[in-house]
Amino acid sequence: MTGKMKAEKIRAGVTGWPVAQSRSPLVHGYWLKKHGIDGSYEKIPVSPEEAEAFYGNLASSGLTGCNVTIPHKETAAAACDVLDDAAQKMGAANTLWLDETGRLCGANTDGLGFLGNLDQMAPGWDDKRDCAIVLGAGGAARAIVWALCSRKFTEVHIFNRTAEKASRIADQFGSTVHAHLWDKLGTFLGKADLLVNTTSLGMAGKARLEIDLGDLPKEALVTDIVYVPLMTDLLKQAAERGNRTVDGLGMLLHQAVPGFEKWFGVRPQVDDDLRRLVLQDLEQVP
Ligand code: ATR
Repeated sequence: MTGKMKAEKIRAGVTGWPVAQSRSPLVHGYWLKKHGIDGSYEKIPVSPEEAEAFYGNLASSGLTGCNVTIPHKETAAAACDVLDDAAQKMGAANTLWLDETGRLCGANTDGLGFLGNLDQMAPGWDDKRDCAIVLGAGGAARAIVWALCSRKFTEVHIFNRTAEKASRIADQFGSTVHAHLWDKLGTFLGKADLLVNTTSLGMAGKARLEIDLGDLPKEALVTDIVYVPLMTDLLKQAAERGNRTVDGLGMLLHQAVPGFEKWFGVRPQVDDDLRRLVLQDLEQVP
């Protein structure tokens, strides 16, 4: 800064309960170093009892902004003065910052992370966007449905074990989004341009995702939000029959991009070195 005091070091971090398992410090730490920024990104445990007051008074924490993880995404959204479209639709915010006037702003970047990953790893993936199939109806599914609607998919079909959860998402996003039980999947696979698994099935230690891809067009893109293992059975099965596949690690990395840009003023890249760094860490403690 010219003439005045030296600019204060920008502080950001990941807040949640617990936060010990978060890979966000690794990701933001990599970008801080790469761009030579004298800032910090910390792990900040926030207990359920203190959450409302913490987000409501974020300015007093000395943070420029923060990420929010489980279980505070809804509390954080409720504390915000301004929410982006995704956070409004999801009622949950994972990225917060204070604007010039001191207003608390919140975004949900999971859907953007999903899009950023596919844009980078499978350019042109949304050239044909007649029909997308989403397996699962949790928070990640909601973010991905938001993302697919933002890219103007003509039809989005959600398949879930629990009908009400799928219907709740479908009702929220309007007439292009439809809810189904798993047994109807075969009827729709044949016209899919995109197949996304958002369930925890196929994750290390969880049940397998049992699916017959027989009817899926060879041109369809298949992606999974599970990234441990990186090559899930779904992706292996899809790749073996010739479908293009994208793993889920990139969604985790890309959802961090908007926050870093807001807080530190540089739009960072998700590059191979970052992927390798996070993969190495996942190999140590999945
Ligand atoms: P998140 O919010 O992280 O997406 P979640 O809300 O726990 O996680 O959602 C996990 C998804 O995996 C849900 O769609 C869940 O189905 P239900 O809504 O019926 O619970 C799905 N899922 C988890 N285990 C499953 C299983 N054994 N069989 C079928 N679906 C399963």
